[in-house]
Amino acid sequence: MPDLAIVNGSLLPLEEARVPALDRGFLFGDSVYEVIRTREGVPFLMERHFERLQASAGRIGISLPFDLQGMAGEIRRGLDGAGYGDAYIRIIVSRGYGPPNIDFRMVEEGPSWVLMFRELHVPGPEAYREGIAAAVPQVKRNDREALDPAIKSGNYLNNILALKEAVERGAQEAILLNREGHVTEATTANIFIVERGRYLTPPLGEGILSGITRALILERAPGDGLEAAEETIPLDRLLSADEVFLTSTTRDVLPITSVDGKPVGTGRPGPATQKLMERFQAWAEEIHQREKQAW
Ligand code: PDD
Repeated sequence: MPDLAIVNGSLLPLEEARVPALDRGFLFGDSVYEVIRTREGVPFLMERHFERLQASAGRIGISLPFDLQGMAGEIRRGLDGAGYGDAYIRIIVSRGYGPPNIDFRMVEEGPSWVLMFRELHVPGPEAYREGIAAAVPQVKRNDREALDPAIKSGNYLNNILALKEAVERGAQEAILLNREGHVTEATTANIFIVERGRYLTPPLGEGILSGITRALILERAPGDGLEAAEETIPLDRLLSADEVFLTSTTRDVLPITSVDGKPVGTGRPGPATQKLMERFQAWAEEIHQREKQAW
């Protein structure tokens, strides 16, 4: 199955996709992006991803070169060409092409945009069965008043530095704190803890991306008799949590079973996490059936 890209409207194999060295996305990370996955070939929660992309673009002062229908049309084009069971779709919109000068007003052509289609790779079953190891790095999450993590920008250096520290300490993920020492999020995922059966995740005000998987859990949990809430989580609360897990488009609900080398709870994925993993698949399936009709 070929990996494909659409670069400013031209469809080509992903390994042949190019953007100019003078693109501001390359020069400065002056871009925004989204990651969407498909279920049975149908984009999952596409409209919400479009809305977040639009919000990110608005926050850096660019307007998207397509509307929801336009984006859906390009996605359909890519998926038809790729012919995957399930795809990872990455959408990147850069301010565009111009001289290597910080002055954004000097952009000559833009915005430029790329869609990438790759076969979806999700963590293996053992990651869900055993959980993964996380570390809390020294590097802090970007401050909201500097580069607001609510913007899904093409500049993930903060996240990369955090992951680098975590990997150097033998972990697979980083859980970043903010200046106040409160839990924010993982490098490309949101974080939940479980305390006495309650699912808790940091409020948006702590400086995090408003994750779509996270939002779905907060919205759907009460309907299934589960208590989920946004609460500030200082480091000691993370370290004494009964259970910890992360959430993202490509990983759904993934247990974290150690933090900084110490087991979380029993050191095994706990019952509340397992329950939510099961409920999440049911919610996703229900949404998918609806989206399949409309696609
Ligand atoms: N990452 N926090 C950050 C910093 C993220 O980059 C992501 C998504 C999330 C989770 O958001 P959602 O549930 O909407 O996927 C939280 C994507 C998957 C990525 O960069 O690959």
